[in-house]
Amino acid sequence: MDLTAINKFFYEQTDSTNTRAKEFLCSKTEPQNEQNPKNNLPISAIFVANSQTNGKGRLGRSFFSPKNCGIYLSIVYNTDFLEYENDVTLITPKVAVSVCKTLEKFGCKNCKIKWVNDIFIEEKKVCGILTEGILSKTQKNKINPAIIGIGINLQEDKNGFPEELSKIATSANINFEKKDEVINFLLQEILLDLKNENHNLVMGEYKNRSNLIGKVVNVIENTFTGETYQAKVIDITDKGHLLVKKKLQNSFEEKITEIFTGEVSIKF
Ligand code: BTN
Repeated sequence: MDLTAINKFFYEQTDSTNTRAKEFLCSKTEPQNEQNPKNNLPISAIFVANSQTNGKGRLGRSFFSPKNCGIYLSIVYNTDFLEYENDVTLITPKVAVSVCKTLEKFGCKNCKIKWVNDIFIEEKKVCGILTEGILSKTQKNKINPAIIGIGINLQEDKNGFPEELSKIATSANINFEKKDEVINFLLQEILLDLKNENHNLVMGEYKNRSNLIGKVVNVIENTFTGETYQAKVIDITDKGHLLVKKKLQNSFEEKITEIFTGEVSIKF
């Protein structure tokens, strides 16, 4: 896709680029039909900020977004381009693969994915992805578009990470001046990785890059009550679900449990 066709919005500072994208979609009066050429593009708009005052993460968490340090990007993705088994729930894992390949293109080594949406370098988080679905105005019960929010720590802030993050977060150590180049490369990777014909390849890569397979993790079964159990991660399916064996007293259950959503924590 020709990236010049994408509407681009830049902010020196904003609360959250995902919020800016939602606002834009709500205010949009353009016709939502096939006659509108913008509706035939997989990516219609991107929102980029130099800093965010209320960067949002999954499960109500925040995303630290200081100025001149990272990429804070939201992409409006047209889900009409996804077919069959390649549905919206796979956007986040596939984009995680795109981010890994992009960071490695710009010099990072060995980018790993912590199910479901975090990218790790040397056991510390360098990027998070928050995909939010918007209910279609014209197609019943369909999510369209999806807003893909990506936060990447390119460089560490001169004051370092706040204390609560310093043990768990890192930066990619990519020159901030390369930011636009990184974004362009990432957009092209995302367009490729979300293509239906690349489904098996990309999910295979998602699994290969997982830093959980074979490890014992705490599964947070219910993120509202915080109920957890320990389990060993056996595999990841081509739907991006985690297959685990729950821990008994001194061994693991034979039965395999499939986890679709939620959160796991791991001690490195
Ligand atoms: C997570 O770590 O759980 C996801 C973090 C996602 C952060 C990005 S930064 C750009 C976009 N705008 C937001 O407010 N959040 C996402």
